Amino acid sequence: MSSALRPISILLVGGCGHWAAAENHLPAILTLKKHGAAVRLAAICDPRDPYDPALLGHMPYLNSVVTEDRPAWIRPQPGEPTEQLECRLQQAHREHHFDVIIVACDPVAHFPYLKWATDQGIHVLCDKPIICVEDAAWNPDRAAEIRRQFDALLRAHRAQPGHLFAVPLRRRANDAFVRAGQLIRDLHDTHQQPLTMGHINVYGGHFRLPEEYALGQAHGYTHGVGALAFSSYHYLDEMTRYLLLAPGQITGLRLTLQYVRRVGDHLASGLNDALGALLRPLSEAELPDVKLDDRTLLAEMDFAFTVELLNARQQSLGVLNYSFTSNSLSNRRVGVLARDAEGSLAFREKGRMSQYVMDLHQGNLQHLRLTKNDAVGEAYRIRLEHRRNPLIGGTGRQKTVYDNAHEASAVTPQDITAAFITMAAGGTPTQDVVDKIAFLDGQLLTHRVFAAMYELIAAHHHDTRPCPSVLIDMPVTGGTTAGKEAS
Ligand SMILES: NC(=O)c1ccc[n+]([C@@H]2O[C@H](COP(=O)([O-])OP(=O)(O)OC[C@H]3O[C@@H](n4cnc5c(N)ncnc54)[C@H](O)[C@@H]3O)[C@@H](O)[C@H]2O)c1
Repeated sequence: MSSALRPISILLVGGCGHWAAAENHLPAILTLKKHGAAVRLAAICDPRDPYDPALLGHMPYLNSVVTEDRPAWIRPQPGEPTEQLECRLQQAHREHHFDVIIVACDPVAHFPYLKWATDQGIHVLCDKPIICVEDAAWNPDRAAEIRRQFDALLRAHRAQPGHLFAVPLRRRANDAFVRAGQLIRDLHDTHQQPLTMGHINVYGGHFRLPEEYALGQAHGYTHGVGALAFSSYHYLDEMTRYLLLAPGQITGLRLTLQYVRRVGDHLASGLNDALGALLRPLSEAELPDVKLDDRTLLAEMDFAFTVELLNARQQSLGVLNYSFTSNSLSNRRVGVLARDAEGSLAFREKGRMSQYVMDLHQGNLQHLRLTKNDAVGEAYRIRLEHRRNPLIGGTGRQKTVYDNAHEASAVTPQDITAAFITMAAGGTPTQDVVDKIAFLDGQLLTHRVFAAMYELIAAHHHDTRPCPSVLIDMPVTGGTTAGKEAS
């Protein structure tokens, strides 16, 4: 960033969490500072104390920033009324004149921060999922609130000309996914061939001992929502992005919940016993033996949806499947850690997996397969296989392997955070990075699908229909979509 750019004052919400403090936002801010940018972390809003030595001992980037910038600590209180929180944010804003808010806390807490900041015209960088609502996994009214809040936010954003609202979605920037999108778009541009068939199967493989279900923030179950609010948003975003790149005659989607399994179902099944028995003797500490409440027991762990692709006459043009499972291979080899019992750090899954197989067919002309088979923390490898029909230049199976697929990508999530701050400062980051940033307006379809999935998971808890469905319209450019219950 050049010195001609405006100085930037940042409010970081969830600034003591892993993603903000250890992995992405603070490292990106420190890099900008190193390059001479006038960027200051003015405040951290988090129930955890950013000056707690026990936390700082685990978080060197946070340690550097609090030493350098001495950010104010805004401490949200449990159950604090929104007006009171807004009042405190407003007071801090008067003192620090925030230009940017980065929201990286538990998604069920996002909305008040996003709405307040947007109404003030403060530029927003918000981690996925943009909106989630407590108890959406089992309470249909709460699930319906996800869409309402998103719409309120979109209206507030559109009412602020020049307001930036971005979402760092790493797969949008990842070389393998970028290439997949190019192949899909090119074929659609040349042959008007839409996507017709696909399977996106993601295996999250995260294993918890029963008492660990009482822990956790952004990737936890204690707020009555679960695994759909974790990494699934990335894959839904890719799925909808490809649909928008190759829509053909597709004007609507019929989303059907085929399968859901909740924390309570899982614990009652005894599936925890085998790995649990191996891990218990390895624990460094004990956690209190709490009785899990219903909202935790009803949070979703595994689920599968079909997305039928419909034309304007509601004829089926094809189908995409999306499934996510937590109950798959786990690489976990440690029991309860001392730091979990201590509670200074947000709980993190141990030995979580990052595995997927994605097959995407564009009619009879093109097939793409993306696969990944890693434990989280390993150097990631994504394989992209690609075939086209020989009559349009296909020469058999083309295979590209993206080694160190996340870190070595041409654009990384840290680049996105840095580019966003540069834009907020009045600068122009390279187009190559800007092209990889998801902005709020472009998230309409992804968020519609995400919200509808919660509506179906909640409906399933009450409904006699084993597989509830909902219709979602594809967005008309610049317009809105309308979802309605299918009969
Ligand atoms: N784009 C990506 O690739 C990516 C990767 C990892 C995480 N994320 C996202 O980043 C966010 C944080 O994930 P994480 O792994 O750091 O989680 P985490 O649980 O480690 O951190 C969440 C932080 O938010 C704080 N918090 C909880 N409630 C709050 C509230 N009401 N107000 C303010 N702060 C609050 C917690 O104390 C904690 O410090 C999530 O939305 C997650 O989906 C994105």
